[in-house]
Amino acid sequence: MTYNSPIPQLGLGTFGRTGEAGIEALLTAIEVGYRHIDTAQSYDTESSVGAAIRRSGLPRGDFFVTTKVADTNLDRASFMPSVEKSLETLGIDRVDLLLIHWPSQHDFVPFEDYMLALAEAKAKGFTKHIGVSNFPIADLERTRALLGDDAIATDQVEIHPYMQTPKLRDYARSRRLTLTAYQPLVKGKVHDDPVLAAIGKAHGVSAAAAALAFLMGEGHVVIPASSSKANLEANFAALGVRLTDAEMDQVRALNRGDRRINPAKSPRWDD
Ligand SMILES: NC(=O)c1ccc[n+]([C@@H]2O[C@H](COP(=O)([O-])OP(=O)(O)OC[C@H]3O[C@@H](n4cnc5c(N)ncnc54)[C@H](OP(=O)(O)O)[C@@H]3O)[C@@H](O)[C@H]2O)c1
Repeated sequence: MTYNSPIPQLGLGTFGRTGEAGIEALLTAIEVGYRHIDTAQSYDTESSVGAAIRRSGLPRGDFFVTTKVADTNLDRASFMPSVEKSLETLGIDRVDLLLIHWPSQHDFVPFEDYMLALAEAKAKGFTKHIGVSNFPIADLERTRALLGDDAIATDQVEIHPYMQTPKLRDYARSRRLTLTAYQPLVKGKVHDDPVLAAIGKAHGVSAAAAALAFLMGEGHVVIPASSSKANLEANFAALGVRLTDAEMDQVRALNRGDRRINPAKSPRWDD
């Protein structure tokens, strides 16, 4: 599948990489080659991301930075100040991608309010691209009706070999919308999978890299997290791996709808 999106296909998750240890992990990742970094207002990693970018000595333009507006900041009064605070914490003038982290449960905050605020953040130059996270098809359809066909660059959702979201995947393909796979390694659990290990071995990479290569082969962006240089390198190696059609089918068969992230505020999922 041809990859056609402004988002670099392999990025770095930052959940849990806080403080000085987080900055060190980020600097190691930058040294390995990661340039696309995923943070969020709720992770407490925006300051680590900003510090790592500055300490790397590389120009800001080399990086693709994503942050997400927390569900507690969706109301009109909080939205834009929260985005300005994110930019201040990151120490940059604008992010590359700004996402709505979760839709407002039961439309507690009216959908139009925060989606129009998201579009306004782009118009103000606070972000280059906009997108959403944890949006089911119904909310993607509402987004399309409100903002138009190609307004958003991605929907960031839980996707990994055990949770492949076929309904959402097929919908996204029909709309040419890129999905970003979060928790793509099932918190490292894919490492023990015999099918992925065998495929990885055939390509001279780890089971985790085989999982990432599969997800990228499906056309998704992947944002695995790690603090270990060896794992960061192993995951980055996925960029050079292309699975055969037969291998893609083998990994597709691992899907069992195993959703890991399902808090009470979750929308009605499609898969
Ligand atoms: N939008 C959302 O609602 C949402 C929700 C969840 C996550 N996310 C984003 O997605 C990112 C990734 O998800 P995640 O961090 O939850 O999980 P993940 O990327 O699936 O797994 C990360 C864990 O796997 C381990 N790991 C990494 N590479 C490995 C390898 N090659 N072999 C074995 N273990 C390995 C890491 O430990 P080591 O440090 O020891 O390597 C780390 O503990 C997050 O950091 C966050 O940016 C977004």
